[in-house]
Amino acid sequence: MVSYKQLGLVNTREMFAKAVAGGYAIPAFNFNNMEQLQAIIQASAETKSPVILQVSKGARKYANATLLRYMAEGAVEYAKELGWEKPQIVLHLDHGDTFETCKSCIDSGFSSVMIDGSSLPYEENIALTKKVVEYAHQFDVTVEAELGVLAGVEDEVSAAESHYTKPEEVIDFATRSGCDSLAISIGTSHGAYKFTPEQCTRDPKTGKLVPPPLAFSVLHEVEAKLPGFPIVLHGSSSVPQEEVDTINAHGGKLPDAVGIPEEQLREAAKSAVCKINIDSDSRLAMTAAIRKHFDENPGHFDPRQYLTPARDNMKKMYMHKIVNVLGSNGKAE
Ligand code: G3H
Ligand code: 13P
Ligand code: ZN
Repeated sequence: MVSYKQLGLVNTREMFAKAVAGGYAIPAFNFNNMEQLQAIIQASAETKSPVILQVSKGARKYANATLLRYMAEGAVEYAKELGWEKPQIVLHLDHGDTFETCKSCIDSGFSSVMIDGSSLPYEENIALTKKVVEYAHQFDVTVEAELGVLAGVEDEVSAAESHYTKPEEVIDFATRSGCDSLAISIGTSHGAYKFTPEQCTRDPKTGKLVPPPLAFSVLHEVEAKLPGFPIVLHGSSSVPQEEVDTINAHGGKLPDAVGIPEEQLREAAKSAVCKINIDSDSRLAMTAAIRKHFDENPGHFDPRQYLTPARDNMKKMYMHKIVNVLGSNGKAE
């Protein structure tokens, strides 16, 4: 048993309370490899932003669970080396699907876990979440739950269509499960194709898709039912069109990829939404830089040559989110 406290990590409790009160959101960035982690830590250290490092089940399988855990431990030391005296870094399990996975993460040094019972019947979601909460709280680990179903694929939790969170359920769910934060469904979804062309209108000048707005009315009703309770938004990548264009201009094929407009995320961050999940934008930033680099430098084969611009492009994106979208800069001085 390794406690996250020994690793210099923190849980989300105080971080979320401050974010809700201060009208900003904490970035939750997924990582699967060293370059993503370096870029996240550099961006967070330079902006003095609290940060949540998210590890999905797929990431644990891809990179090895033990290695990822040690990388997070190294990230705390790296942050200090970069001059961030008191780094506020959370190591969080993204979309935990079983009690056993959550337990394994808690036992190995995670400071926060998500138990995603959103595809289960309501009572089963409460029972599973409660079981994880009872275990996690013994070690002061915080727990995120989910109510409502996002469209698209949530790791192995899939849903043919989204079902917005029902505001009338949130008080009962939060009280009986004991969760510390709640992910809700208001129209976001995972991946780079968040809306079909049929759900969007098209900008006549650019030909780009304009997505329908998020269901802010649902968010406001949830906030009214649970004042000050930390709310989480998954599937919150913006799918920057300049990255999509770069990918497509250098041999990629991502037609009509579309995300959540940043103005809407800015608005959400000012509310009780205190954690905003971003993964796809990092994938796009990395892929765009690598494709461009290979196109322009066909003779390069040293991974450091193409992973350096990839890392720089991810860092630029992370800093932009922190400073211009979530407003978490300077909140972990
Ligand atoms: O919510 C999904 C995250 O983007 C993680 O994706 O399961 O492919 O690692 P992944
Ligand atoms: P995106 O696919 O929009 O980046 O969402 C990531 C996410 O919600 C991780 O849990
Ligand atoms: Zn998610």
